Amino acid sequence: VLRIVGTAAPRPDRNAGNPFVWFGPNMAWHAFARAQGMTALACDALVRELDDAVRAFAGVGFHVTPFTRQAALSHALGFTSAGGVWIKDDTGNVGGSHKARHLFAILLHLVAAERLGVAPATSRPRLAIASCGNAAIAAATLAGAVQWPIDVFVPPWAKPAVRDRLGALGANIVTCPRLTDDPPGDPCIHRFREAVDSGSVPFSVQGPENAFCLDGGRTLGVEIGTQAAAAGVHLDSVFAQTGGGAFATGIGDGLHEVRAARMPKLVAVQAAGCAPLVRAAAVAARFGADASRHWNEVMWPWEAEPKSLATGILDDETYDWVGVLENVDRSGGSVIAVAEPSIARALGLISTTTTIQADATSTAGLAGLLTNRGSFHDDANVAIVVSGVRRD
Ligand SMILES: Cc1ncc(COP(=O)(O)O)c(C=O)c1O
Repeated sequence: VLRIVGTAAPRPDRNAGNPFVWFGPNMAWHAFARAQGMTALACDALVRELDDAVRAFAGVGFHVTPFTRQAALSHALGFTSAGGVWIKDDTGNVGGSHKARHLFAILLHLVAAERLGVAPATSRPRLAIASCGNAAIAAATLAGAVQWPIDVFVPPWAKPAVRDRLGALGANIVTCPRLTDDPPGDPCIHRFREAVDSGSVPFSVQGPENAFCLDGGRTLGVEIGTQAAAAGVHLDSVFAQTGGGAFATGIGDGLHEVRAARMPKLVAVQAAGCAPLVRAAAVAARFGADASRHWNEVMWPWEAEPKSLATGILDDETYDWVGVLENVDRSGGSVIAVAEPSIARALGLISTTTTIQADATSTAGLAGLLTNRGSFHDDANVAIVVSGVRRD
């Protein structure tokens, strides 16, 4: 289990709008590049160069995304004007979701390694990712921006709109049905691991496959923590829809690193139709601080065919359970499973009370708030992250 260890609170004077420049000196890829002899200025220049390439290719580059109090949604949920629901809106991020945050840190690490002569620059190995949508689009966007060949391993039920987009971005699409002799677990992950075993680079949004994804994921928590502090708001809780768990890990790690105020409680939200982390949290509690040494006893693939309207969080396993549970524990948060009617209601509420174009995956955190609403005072401030744009 690899975890990114934070070093210092992000320096406010570096916040010029690009989270990867702002948070740069706190990042693991940056520490790697510096240790190999790249200057701090050259690290900043590399971020800007790759960000310019992404912007030229995709029309949008990395930027601090909006974090605002939602008046109509707060009112609909019975919060007073002293409190309410805050939304971190990542639907306008590179590739239409937060996933590019994870992958840009990997890309920076790879290109830095090439430039420093510690990775082959002439014969690039292919990139590989397993994903049912948002992560694949983010990966293909970043790979296309730097003309790096990529294979994306997708389930047979991947939406046609996603396939079309991947094709337009130049990715090679590999469809992965569940094979009869497959071991338990996601067939896309099996095919992805076979590719990595054959020499591909894991361009993954799952920490156990490539821990550098956890590096970039922290920008989300850093932004939320800093933006809430700037608004003079103490967030009681932040709800995070949780599939593989890198998203919730990044939010928790980033919030922890801001250190400007008491860390909000991290509430990891799973769909009742696929909730391996809820099961794991109960088992991990028995092992205490030693839980990560007991992987097989704590985390194993969800046995039934995962089902939910929130298809993006249907990971058989919460691969980054160690990072999520660490942040849940240190913030006094919790892990919950939500029923399908709440997931549907959350999606409906976002579309009727905001102008954000979201899908059920990216609003599933709100389903957690709906489920737990009774435990908050009407003047509490809580946050959700609407993490991906609707694609149909
Ligand atoms: C829009 C969106 N939000 C949140 C998540 C959950 O992220 P994680 O799998 O890291 O828990 C996903 C996963 O695919 C997603 O697509």
